[in-house]
Amino acid sequence: RPGAGAWVPSDAGLDDLRAAAPGCRGCELSRAATQVVFSSGSVRARIMLVGEQPGDREDREGEPFVGPAGLLLDRALEAAGIRREEAYLTNAVKHFRFEQRGKRRIHAKPAVGHVVACRPWLEAEFAVVRPEVVVCLGATAARSVLGHDVRIGEVRGRVLDERGGSALRAPTLVTEHPSAVLRVREEPARRASFDRLVDDLAAAAEVAR
Ligand code: URA
Ligand code: SF4
Repeated sequence: RPGAGAWVPSDAGLDDLRAAAPGCRGCELSRAATQVVFSSGSVRARIMLVGEQPGDREDREGEPFVGPAGLLLDRALEAAGIRREEAYLTNAVKHFRFEQRGKRRIHAKPAVGHVVACRPWLEAEFAVVRPEVVVCLGATAARSVLGHDVRIGEVRGRVLDERGGSALRAPTLVTEHPSAVLRVREEPARRASFDRLVDDLAAAAEVAR
């Protein structure tokens, strides 16, 4: 896998990055996906949220976090006092990975190779947005941002001042992916899971202030 490096323009602004992303062939995920899903939000954002990869809806619409997980994230952001337009939303991997089952496309977790291949985009985004704080939504995002595996339960909600190894030198906070909250079926466990996501987002917003 060559990785995205060859497709990421250097010294580029956000618009240049966005314009170049559809051309990326840094891994094989571009072949089956409908389109690249780059990011949303302002270059002036102080808080950068990193998800895993676009889902089925995002793949069709070309926008991050517009499906069920995105709706839950919207509610969590609002509860944490963060306006979505004030945040920069992106993903560790920018093409949808799925398995075809009949007519259905089933989400498939990106492999570490996809995360590594796609990381040059995240680094370039980070360089132009220069956020005060980075929030990793789930383990895949954390793998990309931190460059190593973490257990969510061990690191969540704490500000990790990441210096070694990572090109993303910013206070970083890891939390659960919103789809993990959606997978909790029973109350009150689901509510508790949602509330912890809100608390973690609020802690990140505190850093960005
Ligand atoms: N899940 C993600 O991680 N990112 C999206 O954009 C949508 C769902
Ligand atoms: Fe390029 Fe990332 Fe898409 Fe792979 S997933 S083709 S590295 S943009």
